[in-house]
Amino acid sequence: MQKILDAILADELDALASLPVPDSYRGVTVRASEQDMFAGLPSKEKDPRRSLHVDEVRTPELGPGEALVAVMASAINYNTVWTSIFEPMSTFGFLERYGRTSELAARHDRPYHVVGSDLAGVVLRTGPGVNAWKPGDEVVAHCLNVELEHPDGHSDTMLDPEQRIWGFETNFGGLAELALVKSNQLMPKPKHLSWEEAASPGLVNSTAYRQLVSRNGADMKQGDVVLIWGASGGLGSYATQFALNGGATPVCVVSSPEKAEICRKMGAELVIDRAAEGYKFWKNDEEQDPREWKRFGAKIRELTGGDDPDIVFEHPGRETFGASVYVAKRGGTIVTCASTSGFNHSYDNRYLWMHLKKIVGSHFANYREAWEANRLVAKGAVHPTVSKVYSMEQTGQAAYDVHRNVHQGKVGVLCLAPEEGLGVRDAEFRAAHIDAINRFRGV
Ligand SMILES: NC(=O)c1ccc[n+]([C@@H]2O[C@H](COP(=O)([O-])OP(=O)(O)OC[C@H]3O[C@@H](n4cnc5c(N)ncnc54)[C@H](OP(=O)(O)O)[C@@H]3O)[C@@H](O)[C@H]2O)c1
Repeated sequence: MQKILDAILADELDALASLPVPDSYRGVTVRASEQDMFAGLPSKEKDPRRSLHVDEVRTPELGPGEALVAVMASAINYNTVWTSIFEPMSTFGFLERYGRTSELAARHDRPYHVVGSDLAGVVLRTGPGVNAWKPGDEVVAHCLNVELEHPDGHSDTMLDPEQRIWGFETNFGGLAELALVKSNQLMPKPKHLSWEEAASPGLVNSTAYRQLVSRNGADMKQGDVVLIWGASGGLGSYATQFALNGGATPVCVVSSPEKAEICRKMGAELVIDRAAEGYKFWKNDEEQDPREWKRFGAKIRELTGGDDPDIVFEHPGRETFGASVYVAKRGGTIVTCASTSGFNHSYDNRYLWMHLKKIVGSHFANYREAWEANRLVAKGAVHPTVSKVYSMEQTGQAAYDVHRNVHQGKVGVLCLAPEEGLGVRDAEFRAAHIDAINRFRGV
């Protein structure tokens, strides 16, 4: 592995094709033998620092249409939090089911799960049938793993019945020295970014792009008012940038003055600190409080000068969904991709049907959407939101921060990269955007 890293650091990328690939590598894992370790504990007490390990694992054999990538950096996504606390279920069930589908897929069914759904790195090997990429290419990877043998996926690959999230529903993810991806996950690394910056947008940027901008999601247009929950978080920090770039007006919801300040630095003018306002949408476990929905709606109107949101960018789920449906504009769209606070949502359906609102489900992004989202990063129109970077050994702590919601934007992880700041190829373009690139740093 050291020879591979030395070649990358020395910018001798042509040499990579002839350097041997090691039989094993270090990766961040959860172990099947530990999947019951948190049984009976409330979610908040399940500690990723106990379940995430750095283990030496066997390098998988390379199949057709695949690529093996030397990972310089990766990032924490909430799905790694879910995997590490074995909620809502252990991801070993995904690996086992995937493993049953073919001989090649059986590689993924192992007693450990190498996690991680983002990477920036360098292609080491490509499998048969891969022509678009070659060893030495500097890449990022999006996390849509799709088989595409079924007709359903051919208009929108997210509709393929064999669609999986790499590093969550498949093995050999990005929080490791090596990663196995399908070659149609690869995209060019933005040249002006360091490895850890380039690794951080992938999953959330693509998801927010589909959810908010794409016709497959809310199809945002100029002038729309967009209510964004968790606007300084992983998804929200990209949704806010898309809203601003697209001529919409974001109304950013956050939970602290520091997070509100980050939203303002991104250019958002309308920000609600939900903690300071003290919204209590639920009276108790069973009953919501419509007066609180109204109070929230009144605050939005106060900020917008009377407008309700054309689009509500939803992901907190149970705790906020009733309010989201209530405050959306007549004819508006609530677009949801997650349920962080609980997946059994309830809302007053009268507000949905009488006011002709729509609820749209959205999940990750197809290759085209991920490509377009990455292109915006490469063009300096959307910027990474890295606030903090950890080493691979500290991944448990990084996931713990995200689980506890004490992070901002994205949390990066160095894999092979020995330090931050490496991998920049276009320093001039970087300099032109440096303030935006560093906006979330150290907050
Ligand atoms: N379907 C997909 O393809 C997809 C893709 C990416 C992520 N996700 C899911 O989306 C969710 C968010 O991901 P993320 O990366 O944005 O996570 P994140 O970085 O933790 O950000 C989420 C933000 O949501 C806000 N939030 C959390 N709980 C809330 C609650 N009960 N009420 C109101 N706001 C709340 C928090 O912001 P404040 O505290 O500042 O309000 C938090 O910073 C996760 O469940 C993740 O698994 C799904």
